[in-house]
This record gives sequence, C-alpha cells and structure tokens, in this order.
Amino acid sequence: MNGADADVSPARPHAAPPGAEWWRSAVVYQVYPRSFADSNGDGVGDLRGIIEHLDHIAGLGIDVIWLSPVYRSPQDDNGYDISDYEDIDPTFGTLADLDDLIVAMHERGMKLVMDLVVNHTSDEHPWFIDSAASPTSEHADWYIWRDPKPGFGPGEPGAEPNNWGSFFSGSAWRFEPRRGQYYLHLFSPKQPDLDWDNPHVRAAIFGMMNRWLDRGVDGFRMDVINFISKDPDLPDGEVVSTGFGDGTPHFAYGPRIHDHLSEMQREVFAHRPGAYLTVGEMPSTTPERALRFTDSETGQLAMVFQFEHMDLDGGPDGKWTENRATVPDLRASLSRWQLELGSRGWNSLYWNNHDQPRVVSRFGDDEHHWFASATALATVLHLQRGTPYVYQGEELGMTNVPFESIDDYRDIETLNHYADAVTRRGLDPAVVLAGIRAKSRDNARTPMQWSAADHAGFSSAEPWIGVNPNHLALNAAAQVDDPASIYGYYRRLIALRHEEPSVVHGDFALLLDEHPTVFGYTRSLGDEVLMMLANLSSDAATLDSSALPPGPWRLLLANTTDADVDTVPAILGPWDARVFRRGGTSGA
Ligand code: NOJ
Repeated sequence: MNGADADVSPARPHAAPPGAEWWRSAVVYQVYPRSFADSNGDGVGDLRGIIEHLDHIAGLGIDVIWLSPVYRSPQDDNGYDISDYEDIDPTFGTLADLDDLIVAMHERGMKLVMDLVVNHTSDEHPWFIDSAASPTSEHADWYIWRDPKPGFGPGEPGAEPNNWGSFFSGSAWRFEPRRGQYYLHLFSPKQPDLDWDNPHVRAAIFGMMNRWLDRGVDGFRMDVINFISKDPDLPDGEVVSTGFGDGTPHFAYGPRIHDHLSEMQREVFAHRPGAYLTVGEMPSTTPERALRFTDSETGQLAMVFQFEHMDLDGGPDGKWTENRATVPDLRASLSRWQLELGSRGWNSLYWNNHDQPRVVSRFGDDEHHWFASATALATVLHLQRGTPYVYQGEELGMTNVPFESIDDYRDIETLNHYADAVTRRGLDPAVVLAGIRAKSRDNARTPMQWSAADHAGFSSAEPWIGVNPNHLALNAAAQVDDPASIYGYYRRLIALRHEEPSVVHGDFALLLDEHPTVFGYTRSLGDEVLMMLANLSSDAATLDSSALPPGPWRLLLANTTDADVDTVPAILGPWDARVFRRGGTSGA
C-alpha cells in the first residue's frame, strides 16, 4: 500500500455543527446490520455488534450513521419488509439496544439516521393481514387492490390488473382469494404497496416517524420514496426483456408525490427545532426533479439518492451484465448532476450501498491497482459538492465476492432473477451467473472484514452468507493504524471536507471534458480554488496543462507516494489522483 498527503490532519473527534442544514458539511457511513458485526454468535450481525465497533466509524471522522432496517421483519428482503415499525427484530436485538446505540453515537458526536421503508410493508404487518382478510375490514383500503381484468376469471393467467413486472421478477400483482382481488407489490409479494392516497395511511406513518424522532433519532433515509404516489389509473407499461411492462413512468413521480412529502414536512419536521437529515431514495429521477425535492427554499428533502451513474453499465437485460461504464459517461453524468443541482439543490454522493456491487471492482481495477483505484474513485467522489456516503467496507477497499455457484447467493432479487432468466426464459446459466457475479447485491452484503481470523472476525459462527476469501489480507486490522492504507486515505478525505469550506460550499466547474480517462474539476469559493485531477484508468494519461486553470498550485492530497508536491504533472500514472489548492501555502 502507499499514499501521500500534504497538510490534511488526521481524523479528530467530530461533532456536527448544530443548527439548520448541518448535514451539508457531514459525511455519512452506512451500516447494513446483518453484515456488520455479530456480537452473539448466531452468524448474523446485530445492534450490539455495531456498538462494539463504533470507534472504527468515529475514527474515520464520520458525522452520521445511516442504519439499514432493524425493525421487526420476516426478513424476506433482509428487513426491507417490515411487520412492526416500532419494534426491533430479535435478530438484531431490542429497543434497549437501539437506545444504547443512540447514546453511544451521540457521545461520539455522531447522529443516527434510520431507514424509513413506507412505500410498502411486509405482508405479515397487521395492517396487511387485516386488509387481505376482507374488503370491509378496517384496513381494507390501506393497500392497492384492484379487480381482475374484465373478461378474465379471478386468478386466471392474464387477469392481473395491468402488465407491470415486479423489481424482483414476475408480475407485480398477487391474487388474494379472500377478497377476489389482486394487490400491487412493486417488490416481492411479501412487500405489498401501501396506498398513500388514503389519509389514514399517511397519518399512521407520520405518527410513527414522530415517535422515532422523539426517541432521539436524527433523520431518515427514505426507501424508494418517489414511488409512493401512483397514477390511480395504473396504465400498462412498455414491455421489456422480461416480457412484463415497465410501470416506472406511472409511479416514479406520481401526481401527488410533492403533496405527500409536503404534508410529511408539515406533520413531522416543521414543528421541531433544529434540522434533521432527510434523504429520499429516488430511482429513475432526473436532475430537474431532484432540484424540486431539494431546493433550499421550497424543497421537501435535504437530498436525494439518484441512480443515473449506477445505471450506466446496464445492458439489454437491465443491470445483469458484465458491461463497464466508460469514464466519459461517468464524468458526463456526475458533472451534470453537480451543475444542475447547483447552489439551490443538494446532492448526495455515493458509489456504494447495500444494493450495489463494490466500487473498486465495478469502476476500478481490483486486480492490478487495488489501492490506487479505490482511493482515486474515493477522491473523485468526496471532493464533489454534496454529502458523501461511505458504505461499510468501502473504507477498506472491499471487493466483489468470487462466489462460484448460485447456491452461494442469498439475495431475493438475485435468486429470483436467476430462476426467471434460466428456468422461465431459458437463458444460458453461465451467462446469467456472470451477470450476477458482476452486479448482485450480495457483493455488498458479504460480512465486514474485521480481521484475518475465522469468519473475518465478523462472527464466532458460520455467517449467514459466505465471507470473501480475500479477508486474509484485506481487513480492518491491517489498515486502521496504517496512515498509508485505504482507511487512512478516507480519513484524510473526510478531514479535508471538514477543514475546507470550499469542499462543502464551493462552485463546481468541470475540466478536461474531452479527456478519455481523466476526471478533473475545480471547486471555488471566493478566492479559494481547489483542483481535483484523477486518472480513472490502468494506463498512464497525458495531461494538457494549457487546458488547466492557471496556478500556482499547491498539493493538498495525493494517492501516490511519488507525487511531486506542488507540480501539476504532465502525465498521470494509473489511477493517480491529486488535489491542489491555488496559491497560498500548502503547509506541506
Ligand atoms: C430499496 C432498498 O435499498 C432495497 O434494498 C430494497 O430491496 C428495496 N428498496 C425495497 O424495499
């Protein structure tokens, strides 16, 4: 490993500044609890495991933890199917454990953002159990029920109310004989969609959110929140490779989405002192729409998760391909979001989360340039305008997992896709598996690699999903005390954001927009100008210095030890990334 920096001091105990919009200078760390740390030896991560490892996160300089769902759940989709919004699943611990986590985090100056999954519940939630029982039950119209298509018998193939496919394969409708009707499930049949047009549904959700904030949590990451308002006509969608219709134009930005989120703002956040971090997950959103949600004057959310850069490496069968995104495409997309959200909106910045393959394998070179590509990609992301998110293990450069067989996978989306593609559509299993290896969500879900010990130090028992064999060399124990590690580099990037107002507030301007492999930009705030240059390629890249803004430039941070301080090089080596400040003293 190598790494060189000039004047960025190491991570410090960090308390997020109080007051409105504190999240603009924050860095968030996502914990996926199943895979983070197992304290009780059952092979599944839990809340006490998180408490035991808080110093790993605080040591990076993190301000906020986003915790993926820990609520009661049958775990059909690893907790994104909730059967009780106000209790903790025994797999993860108890409400008392969560209270202890909040205290331990607040003591360290970190805030807790909970996952809010309210587009759907579990089919084992009491609301759905009652709703499915009869068309006259108390909760009868809390979900999206429709009669069979005219001309078809109830439950007959083709009788589904429209042609939409589910994100987890198959139809998005399931027949319920007790009602003689179908219910909509955009995800698994065990995740029925709530009907947000029903005011009782909204009141119940807002009440639940208020109780969590009263308990001490500091905000919400809102699961597929742009899906909560559906076009009530539920029109058919365009048929795609699976044979089902794509319904997203009819539910990804529905007619009442802004009304619902404005009401949430009024009912949950408006009357509380201080600001909460709210981030809406929004597949299929555009910069124009994201700006409406995050406008600092009129928006309803602090920021959104957009997916444009995550969708660049798809193919005819959606995401399931080994395709790689090109640097010009990535650069064009990310810089467009920077420019279009501008100073009125706010970006969230991410490469990884529990649904995405590992960035160093996906956009980097985990075989030949593991350290350099992980740190170059981190530099490109963290110097942008917005709030950066670090997904557990990203700060160690964790990679995709080389699972050999479909039997190694656990994720419902992956397993359903394999069955659908191979069994129903007759595709070549080897090709399907290659796409899964590249893109399965399980790449992000293998156990956190704490050490070279058995099960990577994650658990004393066999984990619920296989450990990546590279944990013998790639683990936290080998990195946290080494300033030249990937973990050490993330600490410096995060410290840079905390220390340089231009990283938080500066204007963004793209450089070298024709270059085949270099991503470069400046961030300017008054007289302060920072310049980031990164070669996102395993080959050296030539720089035309006449196309760069005039210096003098002082080096602030670099991921190579041979970086010649203060000189903008004519050639950037493979995955070479550097950050410069114009004029002044570098303190190097
Ligand atoms: C998005 C979440 O991130 C993903 O993990 C989940 O499967 C779906 N929403 C459904 O809740």
